[in-house]
Amino acid sequence: MTSTPKLRIAVLGSGTGSNARALCRACAENDLAYSVALIVSTSEKAGICDVAHEERVSLAILEPPNNGKPLADALEQVICEHAIDVLVLAGFMRLLPQKTIDVLHGRVLNIHPALLPDFGGQGMFGIHVHEAVIASGATETGATIHVVTGDYDKGEILAQSKIRLLPGESSTDLQARVKTIEHSLYPAAVDTYVRSLLPFLADSQKSGSKPVFS
Ligand code: GRF
Repeated sequence: MTSTPKLRIAVLGSGTGSNARALCRACAENDLAYSVALIVSTSEKAGICDVAHEERVSLAILEPPNNGKPLADALEQVICEHAIDVLVLAGFMRLLPQKTIDVLHGRVLNIHPALLPDFGGQGMFGIHVHEAVIASGATETGATIHVVTGDYDKGEILAQSKIRLLPGESSTDLQARVKTIEHSLYPAAVDTYVRSLLPFLADSQKSGSKPVFS
């Protein structure tokens, strides 16, 4: 009996790595359609590097100036070397180069700690998002998974999870509560997305044509 191979994802970020850890653990504990094949950090000091070691996942550190190589080129190299099918951003604070999106034929997802399209865009990252949500008087917030395009926090929204704000809640407390829902939302949303890609993989295999995925 043949079984469909799991798609290989890479997680890219420069934060504490809590979402990378959640993705690794979800793969270990469930029959998901993907495996975490690589973690990429743009800072050697970031917590996400420790997560790679703890979860025994290959780690690539692409820290500027990166031997003078543009980030897009360095990313393309590790994506090819590790046969990555889908790139998953988690705590990547910059605009992803269009070249990287093109290399993966658009198969790039991001998690944002608010309910997009609200509280997104340039400068809306980390604690700033939660401060803005509280300052706005909003009664609910949450997390959003979306397809990555060449703009900050744009692209098709694939999944959201909501929580209500608590009276007098601090931005750091709110950030911690949003992270908690991120850790179940992201693994599930990536699984749904990857499964939506599988029919194309199966068709290409059936017809004997070149596989869509690496
Ligand atoms: C998360 O809050 C995510 O929504 C945002 O960056 C943060 C990354 O946190 N894009 P971590 O490094 O996964 O803990």
